[in-house]
Amino acid sequence: MQKHQFEVIVVGAGGAGLMAALYASRHVSTAVISKLYPTRSHTGTAQGGVAAALGNTEEDRPEWHAFDTVKGSDYLGDQTAIEFMAQEAVKAVYELEHLGLPFDRNLDGTIAQRPFGGHTNNITGKPVRRACYAADRTGHMILQTLYQQSIKNKVNFFDEFHVVDLIVNDGRAVGVVAIELATGEFHIFHAKAVIFATGGHGRVWEVTSNAYAYTGDGIAIALRRGVPAEDMEFYQFHPTGIYKMGILITEGVRGEGGVLINDKGERFMEKYAPSVKDLASRDVVSRAMYLEMQAGRGINGKRYLNLDVTADVVNKYAAEDGRTNPDGSPYRMTNEDIFAKLPDIIDFCETYIGVNPLTQPMPVQPTAHYAMGGIPTDIYGRVVIDDKNTVMPGFYAAGEVACVSVHGANRLGTNALLDLIVFGKHSGLKAAEYAKGSSFGSLPADATDFAREQFAEFNRENGTEKVVDIAREMKEVMFEHVGVFRVEDGMQQALDKVRELKERFKHISIDDHGKKFNTDVFNAWELANLLDIAEITAASALARKESRGGHSRDDYTERDDKNWLKHTLAWLDKDGVRLGYKPVDITKYEPKVRSY
Ligand code: FUM
Repeated sequence: MQKHQFEVIVVGAGGAGLMAALYASRHVSTAVISKLYPTRSHTGTAQGGVAAALGNTEEDRPEWHAFDTVKGSDYLGDQTAIEFMAQEAVKAVYELEHLGLPFDRNLDGTIAQRPFGGHTNNITGKPVRRACYAADRTGHMILQTLYQQSIKNKVNFFDEFHVVDLIVNDGRAVGVVAIELATGEFHIFHAKAVIFATGGHGRVWEVTSNAYAYTGDGIAIALRRGVPAEDMEFYQFHPTGIYKMGILITEGVRGEGGVLINDKGERFMEKYAPSVKDLASRDVVSRAMYLEMQAGRGINGKRYLNLDVTADVVNKYAAEDGRTNPDGSPYRMTNEDIFAKLPDIIDFCETYIGVNPLTQPMPVQPTAHYAMGGIPTDIYGRVVIDDKNTVMPGFYAAGEVACVSVHGANRLGTNALLDLIVFGKHSGLKAAEYAKGSSFGSLPADATDFAREQFAEFNRENGTEKVVDIAREMKEVMFEHVGVFRVEDGMQQALDKVRELKERFKHISIDDHGKKFNTDVFNAWELANLLDIAEITAASALARKESRGGHSRDDYTERDDKNWLKHTLAWLDKDGVRLGYKPVDITKYEPKVRSY
């Protein structure tokens, strides 16, 4: 078995992982281990932009960004962390610019910005242009920029290596166990500090914008090592995924003036969010869409609505709203403008559904998009393992796998890419600082045993269950009952079903018993991760008897700050899920009822 040693190991090569690696590698030896080739990481699919109050075309302030984020989070976000992120945002975006990221530009050469849901001028309450973007491929540009910089900075890459365990000795993280896809061999990576940046787990649900690789590996590994997961009941459904496929149609479409229309031709968001309409926060828009469909106003009675960004429609509603350009002239779009701002969206729709958004509306439905919850951390990415925020030495997490918590119960669009770059950077810096001040902890003699036992289970010859069947049943029940709207009975049904599926999973068989490029065995392991996450999510959701942000219950329709203004912590013990809670950090924004 091969052993490797680096001071800092980063697991995952998306935006957070590469940012962490770039910053750590400026101080200590650093390696990135990724189950994908780095530029195939899911960050590459992020479209609309990265938030920062640059104020390039109109007044904006980091304090407004912080307040919008607190409000968007339905007051569950930790306010010290949110204020930190909003302040750091401006610096972080300029750093990306200086690293070579090709942002769209204003005529005066400054970085262009567009409006996005929930980002407002706090004085007028109107949408503010805060999202910095590179057409509708901002994540792709971030990934390419950071990968090039990491190569330049001599970061060591182990591509197509699946990290399958965290090595812990005496309460300290001292490395990871990985399996090389090409050979099936186990490798030990010995480290002073380990940073998990493994992304999200949207593959728990049937319709999702998430890549196939988004199987919650980091959270599942941490849970097996006794680390809790925080606020897992809060999962975001993005309002606009392509009908049935879930592929993301950026909120930037609405930022550029696109509108949601029901079967009666009504711009229904006027009813649900009279002030910001189609640019309300995502939880609000997704719920409004469900209500329209439930009332029979889905297009042709089906479970989708139209998203219209044709120039005539954009111009009609912009005039009705009195929308203006930064110079005060009336806002108008031509087909050429729309094509320049949204080239990938036009391409995706033509390729996947034969719809040309320049002349036709796009059929959309809410799609499982983003985990607000994850591995609990502080603002430096240090993993904390209890309600007293006790730090686990040597273990860091950043990006979607982590819960800082800056998104609380609902994330604002474009705060995800911001989270990656701000907390990726600071976890890299903090991990390097820790590594410089410590020596390598000793590795246990049986470092790979725990992972080997798990993989031995999958190679059973006489199994009767198939990975694909269990995965399908899990996704269906989670989409139906732990989705946009939730009730006690449904969530209990989902939890029972997931537990039944976990039992059935013990009898799976896989077809490929070879070692090289055995994707069959990794699919099984990833499903085991998704099942653990589905169980924790359903159990955390069932326990929370209120509606807040992305957790909306028909049987407890109100937010209940008296009893539930607190974070959930969920442990996965031998006999099931154990729940605990910790307080929300409130600095200056006292919880208020939200209105948009
Ligand atoms: O709509 C979007 O472009 C997605 C952005 C985000 O999730 O932040």
